[in-house]
Amino acid sequence: MKKIFIAIVLLVFGFRTFADEGMWLPLLLGEQVYSNMVKKGLKLTKEQLYSINKASIKDAVIIFGGGCTGEIVSSEGLIFTNHHCGYEAIAAASSIQHNYLHDGFYAKSKQEEIPAQGLYADFLLKIEDVTKEVEDSAKELSGAERAAKVQAAVTAINTRYSDETKSIIAKVSALFKGNQFLVFVYQRYNDIRLVGAPPESVGKFGGDTDNWEWPRHTGDFSIFRVYMSKEGKPSNYSPDDVPLKPKYYLPVSIKGFKDGDYAMIYGYPGGTNRYETSYGVKQKIDIDNPSLVTLRDVRLKFMFGQMKKDPAVKLQLAPEYANVANYWKFYDGESKQLIKYHIYDQKKNEEEKFREWAKGKPGFENIFPEWAKAYDTWRPYSKHRVYLIEGIFGSPLIDFAAALQQAEMALVKQGGGDIKKVMEELNAERKKFLESENKISDEEIVAATTMMFYNDIDKNQHPIGFYESLKGSFGNLKEESTYKKYAAALFGSTMIFDDAKWNAFNANPDAAVLQSDPAFAHAMAFLKNWQGKYFSFYKQFVTDNNELGRLYMKGIMQMDPKKTRYPDATFTMRVSYGNVKSYSPLDAVHYDYACTMKGVLEKYVPGDYEFDLPAKLIELANKKDFGQYLDKQKNDLVVTFITTNDITGGNSGSPVLNANGELIGLAFDGNYEALSHKIAYDAMYNRTICVDIRYVLWCIDKLGGAPNIINELKLVKPTAK
Ligand code: ARG
Repeated sequence: MKKIFIAIVLLVFGFRTFADEGMWLPLLLGEQVYSNMVKKGLKLTKEQLYSINKASIKDAVIIFGGGCTGEIVSSEGLIFTNHHCGYEAIAAASSIQHNYLHDGFYAKSKQEEIPAQGLYADFLLKIEDVTKEVEDSAKELSGAERAAKVQAAVTAINTRYSDETKSIIAKVSALFKGNQFLVFVYQRYNDIRLVGAPPESVGKFGGDTDNWEWPRHTGDFSIFRVYMSKEGKPSNYSPDDVPLKPKYYLPVSIKGFKDGDYAMIYGYPGGTNRYETSYGVKQKIDIDNPSLVTLRDVRLKFMFGQMKKDPAVKLQLAPEYANVANYWKFYDGESKQLIKYHIYDQKKNEEEKFREWAKGKPGFENIFPEWAKAYDTWRPYSKHRVYLIEGIFGSPLIDFAAALQQAEMALVKQGGGDIKKVMEELNAERKKFLESENKISDEEIVAATTMMFYNDIDKNQHPIGFYESLKGSFGNLKEESTYKKYAAALFGSTMIFDDAKWNAFNANPDAAVLQSDPAFAHAMAFLKNWQGKYFSFYKQFVTDNNELGRLYMKGIMQMDPKKTRYPDATFTMRVSYGNVKSYSPLDAVHYDYACTMKGVLEKYVPGDYEFDLPAKLIELANKKDFGQYLDKQKNDLVVTFITTNDITGGNSGSPVLNANGELIGLAFDGNYEALSHKIAYDAMYNRTICVDIRYVLWCIDKLGGAPNIINELKLVKPTAK
């Protein structure tokens, strides 16, 4: 009995020391982290993980389109990423006649691949530590002065390491809240082409109902290819370009895995705040998150109302809708989990320990009293800010109208630049805006958000005269109908929708004409009120919060100098290691580590917006036609699985690798129980949701009929017995 007890204690401790928390910099893995990876099961050398001289895994991992991760999987520059990462490009390549979003698409030859304008791939060339240079420039300064010096040093370093003529882009990243600076140097390729995607009913199966949830049955993948010039250089799209010859590409394993197996994820996590304060947690729970959710609720409702009526509108609004919906659900869940796991109290306790340590230490002892003051000063205006971003400027029309401020500045000579040039840019922006605009839902959004601002924001902070004049022309401010009439008038008379009026303005730009435009006037009433009276509070808060955060982090590192720490995510390359692992979300509930085709069919609802399926998928599934992709243990096709890896948004599309560095899946989501993960990693509940590479290949091969793509891959198959 006692022996078992000791064994259990050791196990728990063992688990703790190797907890799977951490988004590590592959450059600075250190012996301790590397040896933990090996203990967990890794079978590769450090050089194979990251090397600047030899080809290593890092060379196969790219920034995809500026916000996602992708990986190179063939000697001809083939990219795997998520369906939701390729979503905009797939929608842009589609029309009602050739609706690739709806029907899926596979290029059967390179000639059929579709140029994806605006997409790019960044390959990491090297990382260097530039902390000393940045620190030397800022010396003993603090606050805004320090921030300005740091900014100047960072800009100088970026310029020095970048070379536009070679498409080399350098970005300094401030790590450990500005206590360390690394420069990341990338090679950018701009000729990216769409190679394949499953129908949306597979790639987004489960829609927003299943988003951020496990169990999950989504085939969230899409396929692209990087091209280069004939001379082997980065190039903008040209029909003469040839497929990239990558330094390294990932082998793809169809051998399968089991619960507990090693799993490792490379990629570009966007942002975390694991050293967020109790004040910050409270601010999120009380004000920021609920405000955002309330406003997005309304916008989504109006957009969806039009999308479900008309497939053309659906295609037009789908990418924007998906983005808004994704973080609407995220922030709602984040608040719930922060409360459930008592993160506020946890932070309070950590801060108490810090305060004890900081007593009598100049530079550290006043951090928390000052932080409290910074929040107290900012808090009264914080809701106003969310209501502008998510409410007033959540209307695409009003957001575009705000961009016209540049023209006004040029016209009244306030340094807005040359009006001709400004108008050229605005004409191009207007064209884009009109292509993506749905007037019906947008008009509803303007009416609703104008009313919500009136009701929910402190009257003292309203733009002066705005609501009085609205009342004068349209009636009682308590009535919804007032705002509807107002929005209708605004939409009916703005020059932004009226080519004749716009062209006249364009030919002869005039400040008075612009200022009398109702959409512009609406945008300016709110924007100028903010800029004139409240922006300075925000700026001060950001400066204080950053500076106090830097000092707090510095103190924490002095308090416990031996501890191995990973820096918060900053959209720089990280590696996270852990295991494939089942979990228990609730008492008496067990979640298996994998979902199978059986579950896909169980969720199927014919004709449903989120749970419909392609007829061919059902046919193949019923025949159990899974070929070499069948999972022997489950005797079914494994579609998705979960791991303990620590990742976040930006990691979407990331390669999930086994102990040999072979691709076994693509990370595409986090689970609901761990939506507080940006602020605190929970070892019990945190899971990464991945699409199994065997499902991806089955979709391409059997469902998509594109064996040409499979033939490009380096498959690792089970050895015949
Ligand atoms: N939650 C996923 C992520 O942030 C995005 C999934 C997109 N799907 C959706 N139903 N909106 O990476």
